[in-house]
Amino acid sequence: MKNIILLGPPGAGKGTQADLICDLCSIPKISTGDMLREAVASGSGLGIKVSKILDTGGLVSDDIIGSLIQERLTKPDCENGSLFDGVPRTIGQAEQLEKMGVNFTHVIEIYVEDATIVNRMSGRRVHPGTGKNYHIDFNPPKIDGFDDETGEPLIQREDDKPETVLKRLEVYHSQTKPLTNFYKNLSNDGHLKLFKVDGSETVEDVFKKIASQI
Ligand code: AP5
Repeated sequence: MKNIILLGPPGAGKGTQADLICDLCSIPKISTGDMLREAVASGSGLGIKVSKILDTGGLVSDDIIGSLIQERLTKPDCENGSLFDGVPRTIGQAEQLEKMGVNFTHVIEIYVEDATIVNRMSGRRVHPGTGKNYHIDFNPPKIDGFDDETGEPLIQREDDKPETVLKRLEVYHSQTKPLTNFYKNLSNDGHLKLFKVDGSETVEDVFKKIASQI
């Protein structure tokens, strides 16, 4: 059973590595970012509520995230563990996950300098159906502008504009970075492995380092 958290700033490569780790460990990805974007795309009540928050780079409330995760964890595919991509993002969310009884086995922090991130985001392209990420220079699709699997068009995310990326970085440093210490304290009893990986290396090298630890 593996329950893995991927921590790191926006654009560190969490989503990219999450797909590789899920294949390696045969566990599902729980990405609150993907779930919230799906809600926006479907025009649901939740989507209408969170749309502006996503576009401006703020955080959706801990209550909404807690309910999404609680419901997701009831699905049978989570029985052998899950990969948590971009969640928790606040101490409040981490405390909720502890109360839900999720036994985390690994917390992986992917670190990248802020300046590198702003550059990366402008080149990101996403397949809206699956959330699969590409980069026009570092991780290009086989055919420019189209998803490798489905052949459907790729899009640019609304929150990848430079000013919104800066706001997301600010939110990361103030609200999410403190989670490193939260999990450091929990790892002291030896049940949880916490480690850092340099996300400025190539996608393949980052993955090799992660794979060797999990
Ligand atoms: P979310 O979708 O989770 O976004 P994020 O955490 O900001 O992360 P990103 O998806 O932007 O980046 P990533 O680290 O996954 O990097 P990626 O692999 O794509 O959240 C979006 C919004 O939803 C939040 O702002 C918030 O409003 C809300 N939200 C979500 N969860 C929430 C929560 N729990 N609580 C409250 N609000 C929540 O890579 C980025 C680019 O770089 C890609 O183009 C990729 O191809 C490229 N790349 C990846 N790795 C490398 C590499 N090693 N070298 C070069 N390029 C690389």
